[in-house]
Amino acid sequence: MQLKNDLLLRAARGEKTERTPVWLMRQAGRILPEYRAVRDSVSGFIELAQTPELAAEVTIQPVDLLGVDAAIIFSDILVIPEAMGLPYEMVEKRGPWFPETVRTESDLKKLRVADGENDLKYVIDAIQITKKALNGRVPLIGFAGAPWTIFAYMVEGSGSKTFSKSREKLYRDPVFSHKLLQLITDSTINYLKAQIRAGANLVQIFDSWAGILGPEQYREFSLKYISQICDAITEVPVTVFAKGAFFAREEMGQLNCETVGLDWNMGIAESRRLIGGEKTLQGNLDPAALYGNPDQVRAATIEMMEQFRGSRHIANLGHGVYPDIDPEMVKVFIQTVKEFK
Ligand code: CP3
Repeated sequence: MQLKNDLLLRAARGEKTERTPVWLMRQAGRILPEYRAVRDSVSGFIELAQTPELAAEVTIQPVDLLGVDAAIIFSDILVIPEAMGLPYEMVEKRGPWFPETVRTESDLKKLRVADGENDLKYVIDAIQITKKALNGRVPLIGFAGAPWTIFAYMVEGSGSKTFSKSREKLYRDPVFSHKLLQLITDSTINYLKAQIRAGANLVQIFDSWAGILGPEQYREFSLKYISQICDAITEVPVTVFAKGAFFAREEMGQLNCETVGLDWNMGIAESRRLIGGEKTLQGNLDPAALYGNPDQVRAATIEMMEQFRGSRHIANLGHGVYPDIDPEMVKVFIQTVKEFK
């Protein structure tokens, strides 16, 4: 189907666009009262994510209510461990929790490589329903966690400030670590390819815990696997967002991907110099800037846009939008990008 608004895809490929496309990481859910109403009609996040009609509905809400240039499928990065045989729970106000963790060779033996179409059928169905309902209005973004970030949750069993159990594994048992990372990588490639077959127009890899590794470990335990994914996905543009990986920007420029995401600690001019001219950059307004008043949000957005001027850019925040941000300020951010000349 022909897309009516393909700004995101053209910007990702480095083609000319009339204006800069804009969307927000974590736009589906979190901030919209309309999302909370749908979520409160079921038992919680997991049931919502596993009910394709409802997942499609909350995926489209930000397109209707905020006017973003892309939809991102409503799901979570933690569906992959579950599809590999490690189920998770979403504990209200505390986040994800795994009743069992993966720390030994015998734990590894209980896992399987996920098959996207069968093990994650509810996501694939949600993508198909969303595509139909969007009717070509904007592109649909598929996504997955980067292998290192997924590894961190599978070993740790929950979120953590230090992920010290996961990082312990890298030092004490690199063989185990590489085996688990490879299982996750193979599952993720299957999953992303299934999302693309179902209609995802672009895919993004979220490496949310990139910043807790040092440069050498990041290369060995994360970039190596992200690179396998980038090489395997040739059907649609790929975006890699590695939060906190300022030290790896030069290497990110060498990945087989179209777009590199920047967080707000990464200087724009410096990032462009390190990453090179062959990539689109996505980001990178501080999510906390949206706590300002409309004039402040407008000024901060214009300042960001000025710094990206004249180079390949997709406007976004430097991380996911915070749950207590006023949707009106999100609209000011989006409108300011759209009007920027
Ligand atoms: O971008 C989107 O809006 C699409 C949906 C999406 C969700 N999670 C829905 C969700 C995406 C892209 C994610 C990615 C995700 N999930 C990441 C990577 C991005 C990042 O923020 O760094 C990570 C690390 C997770 C893991 C996760 N899921 C955590 C830590 C939590 C709890 C706290 C939180 O972030 O809200 C979740 C739950 C989750 N995932 C919710 C939503 C809408 C909140 C659940 C609820 O409605 O109560």
